[in-house]
Amino acid sequence: MVTTTTASERGPTTAASLPGVSQETFSAVDAFIGETLVDEDEGAQAAWDAAAAAGLPQIQVSPPQGKLLQLLVRLLGAKSVLEFGTLGGYSTILMARALAAAGRLITLEANPDYAEVAGASIERAGLGEAVDLRVGPALESLPALAEEGAGPFDLVFIDADKANTPNYFAWSLERTRPGGLIVADNVVRDGALADASNPDPAIVAQRQLHETLASEPKVEATTIQTVGSKGYDGFLIALVR
Ligand code: SAH
Ligand code: DHB
Ligand code: MG
Repeated sequence: MVTTTTASERGPTTAASLPGVSQETFSAVDAFIGETLVDEDEGAQAAWDAAAAAGLPQIQVSPPQGKLLQLLVRLLGAKSVLEFGTLGGYSTILMARALAAAGRLITLEANPDYAEVAGASIERAGLGEAVDLRVGPALESLPALAEEGAGPFDLVFIDADKANTPNYFAWSLERTRPGGLIVADNVVRDGALADASNPDPAIVAQRQLHETLASEPKVEATTIQTVGSKGYDGFLIALVR
C-alpha cells in the first residue's frame, strides 16, 4: 500500500490507524512470507498444532520471526542457546534445528502443563538430546544453571514473563560470549514502550531495560518495531562486546 503522507504529517500512529493498512493486511503479508521464504519444519509445525490442540495460548513467535531466530542461530554458528519461555516449544524447535553440530539449547518454562506439551513435541521433532527443558519459574532455575557452569551462550532469547525481562537480560549478559546476541521479544507492545506514564509493570520493565542499556558499555543494541500476524510489537537485539 503506497501512502502519500509523510510521517510528520501523519503524526504518531498506531498499527490499527495506519492509513489503508489493517491487521488483516499484516496477517496476509505474514502468510505470504510464510509460503515463500519460510521452509516448513515438520517438527515445529507439529508443535504448533499440538499446542493449539492442548489449548495453549497462541502467542508463539510468528513463522517469519521464527525464521529470523534460525538465521541468527546459524549466523552465530551457535552451539549454546538459552531460551526464557518455552510455551509449546515452537521457537525452541526452530532454534534447536539451526544449532551447529553437537549444539545444545536450554529452555525455561514456568507452566508444567505447557512444559509437558512442549517436551512431547521436542521429542517428536527428534531434538530430545539437543534440548534441555527445565520446568519452573526461570528465576528459580537460574541458580542451578549458574552452579552447573552453564554457558557461555552464543544466543539468548528472552520471551517469558515480561516484567522480568531486565532481570533475565542482566543474568544473561554475564554469560553470553563476546560477539553473542541477546534477543528480547515483546518490548514495544502496541507502542506502549514510548509511554512513560504507562504503569503496567511489563511496560515499565521494557523502558527500564532500554534506559539501562543506554549506559551499558558491554552491549550495542537496537529495537526493531514489527507488525505481522501478532499485531504491533517489536524485539530488542543486543550484541555483546
Ligand atoms: N518462546 C515461545 C513463546 C513463549 S510465550 C515461542 O515463541 O514459541 C511465554 C511463555 O513464558 C509462556 O509459556 C509462559 O508460561 C512462560 N512464563 C511465564 N512466566 C515465566 C517464568 N517466570 N519463568 C519461565 N517461564 C515463564
Ligand atoms: C504474550 C507473550 C508473548 O511472548 C508474545 O509474543 C505475545 C503475547 C502475552 O503474554 O500476552
Ligand atoms: Mg513473545
